[in-house]
Order: sequence, then structure tokens, then C-alpha cells
Amino acid sequence: MHYDIAKILEEQRRDYKSYDYGEGYFYQSCKPLHITGFRSTEIRIKDMGLRNLLKGKSVLDIGINAGFIPLEIADICQSIDAFDINPFLIKIAQTCAKFLHLDNIRFWSGTFEEYNGAKTYDVVLSFANHSTYDRNTKQSIDDYFQKCHRYVSNGCMLLFESHLPSYETPEQLNKILEVLCRYFNVEKSYKLNRGTSGDRGRLFAVCIRRG
Ligand SMILES: C[S@@+](CC[C@H](N)C(=O)[O-])C[C@H]1O[C@@H](n2cnc3c(N)ncnc32)[C@H](O)[C@@H]1O
Repeated sequence: MHYDIAKILEEQRRDYKSYDYGEGYFYQSCKPLHITGFRSTEIRIKDMGLRNLLKGKSVLDIGINAGFIPLEIADICQSIDAFDINPFLIKIAQTCAKFLHLDNIRFWSGTFEEYNGAKTYDVVLSFANHSTYDRNTKQSIDDYFQKCHRYVSNGCMLLFESHLPSYETPEQLNKILEVLCRYFNVEKSYKLNRGTSGDRGRLFAVCIRRG
């Protein structure tokens, strides 16, 4: 399996023209597969309390990168739909899910802008995706959260994680939260202070769909 994913990374280095967030390696870690990354999937899951929040839930994860968050929460979720614009990362996610015998995750390669599924979900995950440095996000912040609202079932949850404060100043983050609050009520929010330097200082918010 490690050999197979190394080959996909090599194809990505050769053929993917946008930023991959892992500099040719991995953005996210995956402890069950002994893969290290810029960000600690294990600590993020613990700090966000995802195993409690997602127990038995249907989940949509937007912009999953190599899919290591879905892989590590699949055992407690009812089902996960998960996608990313980068087809090489989706190929890695599919290879790893097969190796781990996980059959409740549906992966596909595509953009959130083009996504037009009919299903709504108990929980939508928006982790560091409301804007992207690769310039592949083509919609406004308002369109982004409006679309998240469309995919969260009535009374259900959006989980939001911000970018690092070095990329998104407190003033910028406040403006983003103002837009988010047009569509969701923030039930609780706190700073993530553990994990790698890529994890610490981000805001995590549990948000409930309005209306
Ligand atoms: C900062 S990473 C966050 C990855 C993951 N959500 C996490 O927090 O670990 C942003 C991801 O969004 C993907 N992406 C960028 N633009 C996208 C778009 N328009 N639709 C879907 N995915 C997109 C990138 O390929 C990248 O994997």
C-alpha cells in the first residue's frame, strides 16, 4: 500500500499543476497507516471532539485532501461522502480505504462549486476550505456558506475550522464568521492549541443550521 501511494504522489508531482498542500508529501498524518504529515489528524480529531460529535451521523466532508480525516472517523460515522478537487489525492484516499477495509465512505474528485448532490447530511465538515491558497475556490464566502447550508439537514450541524492566524488575521476571520452567521448559529467555538504548528491557533466552531 505504501508503495502504491508513493507512486500516486510521484504521478501528482509530475501531472498536478496546482498546489497540493503537502509539498509532494502529506498535508495530513494517518496514524493507522504510519504516515506523517504537516498536520496531526489524530490530535485534530481529539481536540475537536469529533468522535462524540459524529457518532452515528451521515457526514459530508468538503475538500478532504488525502482523506485521512474520513478514514480515521469512518468507524463511528453512519456514512461519509467526501471529495476534493485534486484527483491524485482522491486516488490515495481510495487506495487507503480499500487497504483498511472501510466501505462506508464514498470518495470522488470534483469541486464544491460544481457539486449538485440531492442528499442532505447530519453534519457537514468545512475544515480549512472556505477559501484556498491554490486559487481553486471560485465562489465567494457567502456562496460557500450558503451552499453548506443547503447540504446540512434542518437543525443539524456545520463544523468549521479556520485557517492559521498567519494566513487569516483576526479581522478577516471575524468577517468570515459574520457571513457564516447569516446561515448558522455558532453553538460553541474555541482555539485549537495542540498538534503541529500547522494545527495550533486555528478556530474550531460547532454551528447549527438556521431556518
Ligand atoms: C487546506 S486543505 C484542507 C484539507 C482538509 N479539509 C483538512 O482540513 O485537512 C484545502 C483542500 O481543498 C481542496 N480544494 C481547493 N479548492 C477546492 C474546490 N473548489 N473544491 C473542492 N476542493 C478544493 C484542495 O485540493 C485541498 O486538498
